Amino acid sequence: MAVNKNCMLFQHTDWSRMELRLAENIARFRKSRGYMGYIPKKKAVTPYEERYKIEEYYWGTMPGEMCLELLRRCYPTRPLRLLEVGCGEGKDAVFFARNGYQVTAFDVTESGIEKAKRLADIHQVEVNFFRADLHDYRLDEEFDVIYSSGVFHHILRKLRREILENYIAHTAPGGMHAINVFVEKPFIPVPPDSDGGENWVSGELFTYYRDWLLEECRETVFDCRSGRIGHKHCMDTVFARKLPENGGKENGGF
Ligand SMILES: C[S@@+](CC[C@H](N)C(=O)[O-])C[C@H]1O[C@@H](n2cnc3c(N)ncnc32)[C@H](O)[C@@H]1O
Repeated sequence: MAVNKNCMLFQHTDWSRMELRLAENIARFRKSRGYMGYIPKKKAVTPYEERYKIEEYYWGTMPGEMCLELLRRCYPTRPLRLLEVGCGEGKDAVFFARNGYQVTAFDVTESGIEKAKRLADIHQVEVNFFRADLHDYRLDEEFDVIYSSGVFHHILRKLRREILENYIAHTAPGGMHAINVFVEKPFIPVPPDSDGGENWVSGELFTYYRDWLLEECRETVFDCRSGRIGHKHCMDTVFARKLPENGGKENGGF
């Protein structure tokens, strides 16, 4: 009897497994290039690309001040999905992962992301680190916590609203934003090692969270010795919670 080889091949091919493998390969390819189909531009957009090329960690490896405060406010009794925007060399993202958060973190620098991955390996934690430019990268999945420290002054003024609204829309009810930003004050001169960012107007950050519970809003002036020359900064910090539609009444409410 004549046998159609193509037909045999068709009959013995497990299509569902092939499709699965194809989907896995596409996902792997996308992840190696960026995140979920997002491909960042190659061009360096910040002086940090060079600054992070040194062997030691430019910002050290100890978590920033806001990290413990966030941990106290959003204790991860279940694996909370946390996004860090502008994670630099990963010290804070790794701290959150070590404390039980499910962490995703991005920065525009390749050198920063490489070091961040190394730090996660040293501490044997999983962090989904990837390279992205916050100007053209938008969220398409939900997070319980969005955290960012020392980064928002890099957001172009004309994109601030759009970006903040995207982050707000992709925060789960009951979730939190923990953000700080450098603000301008007439009595504080531009720092000697300015990184090209544009400070926000004092109080501007808080206005984005009018509909949220502002658990903490503060403005602090502090001394800094980055670039080895003493100078001052002014910073606004917010810990804001997105309340569920009913104000969280079933959990005690507000
Ligand atoms: C002052 S550093 C803070 C780093 C980190 N958050 C920390 O506290 O260690 C500012 C960070 O913003 C990142 N950055 C600047 N412009 C960016 C952009 N357009 N998209 C994403 N990250 C950016 C820099 O690469 C740098 O890592």
